[in-house]
Amino acid sequence: MSSANVEDKKSDLKEQEDPCKSCSEKKGSSKCDNCPSAQSSADKAAKKAERDERIMKRLESIKYKIAIVSGKGGVGKSTITASLALNFSMMGYRVGVLDADVSGPNIPHLLGVEGHKLTGSELGIEPAMSRNGVKAVSSEMVLSTSDTPMLWRGPMRTTMVYQFIADVNWGSLDFLLVDLPPGTGDEPLSVMQMIPLDGIVIVSTSSNLSVLDVSKIINMARNLEVPILGLVENMSYLQCPDCDKQIRLFGENKVGQLSKHYGVDLIGQVPVDPQNSGVDELPADGRSLIVTSVRAIAEKIVSILKEKA
Ligand SMILES: Nc1ncnc2c1ncn2[C@@H]1O[C@H](COP(=O)(O)OP(=O)(O)OP(=O)(O)O)[C@@H](O)[C@H]1O
Ligand SMILES: [Mg+2]
Ligand SMILES: [Zn+2]
Repeated sequence: MSSANVEDKKSDLKEQEDPCKSCSEKKGSSKCDNCPSAQSSADKAAKKAERDERIMKRLESIKYKIAIVSGKGGVGKSTITASLALNFSMMGYRVGVLDADVSGPNIPHLLGVEGHKLTGSELGIEPAMSRNGVKAVSSEMVLSTSDTPMLWRGPMRTTMVYQFIADVNWGSLDFLLVDLPPGTGDEPLSVMQMIPLDGIVIVSTSSNLSVLDVSKIINMARNLEVPILGLVENMSYLQCPDCDKQIRLFGENKVGQLSKHYGVDLIGQVPVDPQNSGVDELPADGRSLIVTSVRAIAEKIVSILKEKA
């Protein structure tokens, strides 16, 4: 590589690292949370107060706010989130789902509102409504096609999550469920900091369970004083169709051990559903083993929240 080329590459990298480049605010503007050139801490504090006030007003008419988190990816957070939403709705509660997985949105598909495009009114962003009466917003609903990959940088993803928190016209809800990407990155942190959560539900499988990953989530929640409603073990067993015996797929119940170790309740175990192809919307009418199994978890959450009240 010639030295000119190396210089080009260097300046490319520099530009990529500059978050102001993709920001619509003036460089150094106090309107941008992530601006490295932003001004005094007084400005920042004022801005944070304004933001919190706006979020408070918006979330005032929502009774319970719960985020669904995990240490590792692909353990079934989105599936459990959508199943909880369907169950709460069937139990007669008013439910909204905020899909805070900006880079990998799955909620529209699971709730059967794929392809919906968000619209705005003077009251805010209007959520989509599933046939089961669950309201939802997702980054997928602001893109042209659902197979467009989201290559946004951290600060932009955080901005979108903030807009979903501050600007969606949910109306009155009993439950707002927030589906998150795995781990302790920007989105989980922003959601735990910005939303006064009633609690988080941690989803894990007993396969390749990384105690370290789950402990990071538990520590993050405890540091931010967010209550932990409990652990859910997903894909924990397979029910034999012949004798009803429960066959554990991933050996011993490592999620149960984790629960004891950290003093966090195990609030449910969801079996593997051999019928779940992952490509269809989750049906709410008893045809989905996952959805029917999650009913007990939904009831448990209601009783935990009522006990706390
Ligand atoms: N109990 C289950 N039985 C059968 N398949 C399941 C079960 N739970 C989840 N799945 C499937 O496992 C895959 C991962 O689930 P899902 O997308 O809900 O995980 P996730 O934790 O949200 O993933 P990500 O970390 O990518 O957001 C999907 O194909 C889903 O259909
Ligand atoms: Mg997911
Ligand atoms: Zn059997």
